[in-house]
Amino acid sequence: MAGLIKAVRGTRDILPPDTALWQHVEQACRHIFHLYNFHEIRTPIFEDTQLFARGVGEDKDIVSKEMFTWEDKARAQSEKAQSLTLRPENTAGVVRAYIEHKMGDTGKLQKLYYIGPQFRRERPQKGRYRQFYQIGAELLGPPASGSESPARDAEIIAMLAHLLREVGIKEWTLLLNSVGNSDDRARYNQALREALAAVKDKMCVDCQRRAETNPLRVLDCKVPEDQPIIDALPKISAFLGEGSREHFNEVKKILNHVGIRYEVNERMVRGLDYYTRTTFEFTHGKLGSQSALLGGGRYDGLSEALGGPKAPGIGFALGLDRFVLALQAEETVAVPDLSPIVFVAPLGQGMNAEAAVIARELRKQAIATELGDDSFRVKKSFEAAERAGAKYILFVGENEVASGQFALKNLSTGDQVSVAREDIATKLK
Ligand code: HAM
Repeated sequence: MAGLIKAVRGTRDILPPDTALWQHVEQACRHIFHLYNFHEIRTPIFEDTQLFARGVGEDKDIVSKEMFTWEDKARAQSEKAQSLTLRPENTAGVVRAYIEHKMGDTGKLQKLYYIGPQFRRERPQKGRYRQFYQIGAELLGPPASGSESPARDAEIIAMLAHLLREVGIKEWTLLLNSVGNSDDRARYNQALREALAAVKDKMCVDCQRRAETNPLRVLDCKVPEDQPIIDALPKISAFLGEGSREHFNEVKKILNHVGIRYEVNERMVRGLDYYTRTTFEFTHGKLGSQSALLGGGRYDGLSEALGGPKAPGIGFALGLDRFVLALQAEETVAVPDLSPIVFVAPLGQGMNAEAAVIARELRKQAIATELGDDSFRVKKSFEAAERAGAKYILFVGENEVASGQFALKNLSTGDQVSVAREDIATKLK
């Protein structure tokens, strides 16, 4: 016997009825995006590897260790093989599309959102998968479109608080930080590097490596013994230039005024190269070690890093997998009931055709309908209706068709009524 083929490590099947919860989150997000004037963009699932190397940063774990990359075969001798990568995130793809389609030429602020799978070769665990799903939004445009304004940062964050309420997630915490512009960050990096040189020998092996390659990542370390050392390192706020500090103060001022709670967390630097100034994460207390529900921030230089025009921007991506886990952990939102309203049961041989016509009429009137089979008889029809989760059962037998009167039974109360064919839909509504 041939061996069973299973879903690949780090990937999973999302089955009904759980998919109803996924749809609930997706629909709530689309609704909120509409209210804030964001419009959907769909970019390819794979891109030129260079996009992520230049966009996200070559030395970032996501790029150096976690990408699914392959050499695409050259189609002709004159062509070179191209290195392609399954997207590990969607911001780089959106900015590439912005540049490629000259969206900046319109002069207007682009507000775009996306829903789709992303791929990272991380060690799988609860809340962390190799194929996972993000819903994200990006707001960018030429400086004259207002894309740099702290009002935009605050609006995105306020939208997220609204979105979480719409989805039904209550127990979140907003962590806020500013990582400054590239000059601020270069100075901070240098200061960190110097401070780490003196203490790194007392730290974990990962930190010893990061102290050399990417000092900012030291701030992410979770090893308990390293925490007092990290707490004593220089803080980013001391390195923010005048412009970055004012920008951050304005974001906080608006959030205070709108009434959105946040914690400033200076250790939150995020794992992608493109961030400038405002960065944020929303975490959830019941998600365990993978507690980030969503993350985002500003990327004022990303378009230029990808060879495009100046196009400051800010965005976020939420982990759909984690939103669903949070909803299940909070137990306050029920799985939406998508089961059929009625089960149409053909009774007796040759009744399939009549039942099919009635089911079609009901479905056209927007009544979710499940259809039985005339080999079922009464008992099996009831069982099938119950298994389908139908609220009513409608019998279609020769007598019913001849008289035009149909037996409609409420499966939870047991009440049965006789309805004229043309009234069935109205009765069910
Ligand atoms: P990120 O923080 O890498 O940011 O990912 C955003 C969210 O995606 C995380 O907070 C988490 O909920 C989810 N996520 C990430 N990796 C996994 C995984 N392996 N399994 C399950 N969920 C995961 C970005 O991707 C940026 N592009 C966000 C952004 C948009 N910044 C500006 N614009």
